[in-house]
Amino acid sequence: MSTSYKFQGWLGLDPSSVKGNMKWQGYEPKTWEETDVDIKITHCGICGSDLHTLRSGWAPTIYPCCVGHEVVGTAVKVGSKAERGIKVGDRVGVGAQSSSCLKPDCEECASGMENHCMNMVGTYNGKYDDGSKSYGGYSDYCRAPSHFVLKIPDAIPSEEAAPMLCGGITVFSPLKKNGCGPGKKVGIVGVGGLGHFGILYAKALGADSVTAISRSAAKKEDAMKIGAEKYIATNDDKDWATHHARSLDLIVSTVSSPNMPLEQYLMLLRTNGTFIQVGAPEDRLPAFNAFSLIAKGCKIGGSAIGAPHEIEEMLELTAKKGVKPWIQKRPMKDANEAVVDMDAGKARYRYVLVNEAHA
Ligand SMILES: NC(=O)c1ccc[n+]([C@@H]2O[C@H](COP(=O)([O-])OP(=O)(O)OC[C@H]3O[C@@H](n4cnc5c(N)ncnc54)[C@H](OP(=O)(O)O)[C@@H]3O)[C@@H](O)[C@H]2O)c1
Ligand SMILES: [Zn+2]
Ligand SMILES: [Zn+2]
Repeated sequence: MSTSYKFQGWLGLDPSSVKGNMKWQGYEPKTWEETDVDIKITHCGICGSDLHTLRSGWAPTIYPCCVGHEVVGTAVKVGSKAERGIKVGDRVGVGAQSSSCLKPDCEECASGMENHCMNMVGTYNGKYDDGSKSYGGYSDYCRAPSHFVLKIPDAIPSEEAAPMLCGGITVFSPLKKNGCGPGKKVGIVGVGGLGHFGILYAKALGADSVTAISRSAAKKEDAMKIGAEKYIATNDDKDWATHHARSLDLIVSTVSSPNMPLEQYLMLLRTNGTFIQVGAPEDRLPAFNAFSLIAKGCKIGGSAIGAPHEIEEMLELTAKKGVKPWIQKRPMKDANEAVVDMDAGKARYRYVLVNEAHA
């Protein structure tokens, strides 16, 4: 099958790209395989990880790099060995992961934990076995292995589905795995893209109450509208950690900076409570006293996105419960401005780039 379209998108060429210096250019996508799907992109969310990657914040990025891993669009080319019954014309999406080894003897892939496979390939800034690179969704088209391409349920608009594919699943998965549901009191730290999904999904999963934990009071009204019952402003509320001590069973932290009051967050946990960090700061987490864990038998852990079967489960719950994310549409042509605004913390609560030529 030949293609009549070109792969072109917003490329970061160096760390200054995060300052609004991405360039619209062509690039060579992944080498085509019959298990692949080409997606004509209509929507792509802007994730905090896009910014870390553009600025080489975690590690040197393999420039040129087209970020964006909350991709939704139309399947325009489907390999003869594609999975999931995907057909040309289907509305589909791909999240932060595009590939893993999928070998039967891989402990992770064989047990539905593809997101933890040693050979996991990110949707951007990744390399496939043959050396070709992965390019993300600030773009016209995206090529991805079909195992990681999911059909979008009719009930979910594309602009809402897109940010769920990374932002949504990254909080849905640890909430679900750590017992969020009736009888549980849940805290979400950071009211940003991931954090607002945390509030939404903790409610959708039936938690007794959700506490939003933010730096200032500025997002209080929004957080309550999104579904939180309680709100803590850590820079403004005096003695918040003692006032709210031992009030939460599970905390999911989406904080993207290492400057966080971690020991105080742990004070909020009840006995046997769990703290899961999903935000991925570019520097080390703060040190904390071992007795923060020992005294109450608490656990601290992490979580990475979610496997395809978990994304499907999340989309099903979203459709069933009518979960509505708070998104703001931005034209794909203005991706540079949108990235700068995201970096300035202006998103309420997820920017979604709209590829107007395709939408
Ligand atoms: N584990 C995974 O698989 C995974 C997947 C996706 C993203 N991530 C990571 O999760 C983090 C959050 O991503 P996101 O898209 O939700 O970003 P975001 O929309 O910018 O939200 C991050 C939130 O962190 C809080 N924050 C605390 N201190 C901050 C500081 N010094 N500067 C900026 N924000 C600060 C803010 O909440 P308040 O204003 O309420 O304090 C902010 O809204 C990023 O590090 C991203 O790379 C991890
Ligand atoms: Zn992401
Ligand atoms: Zn594997």
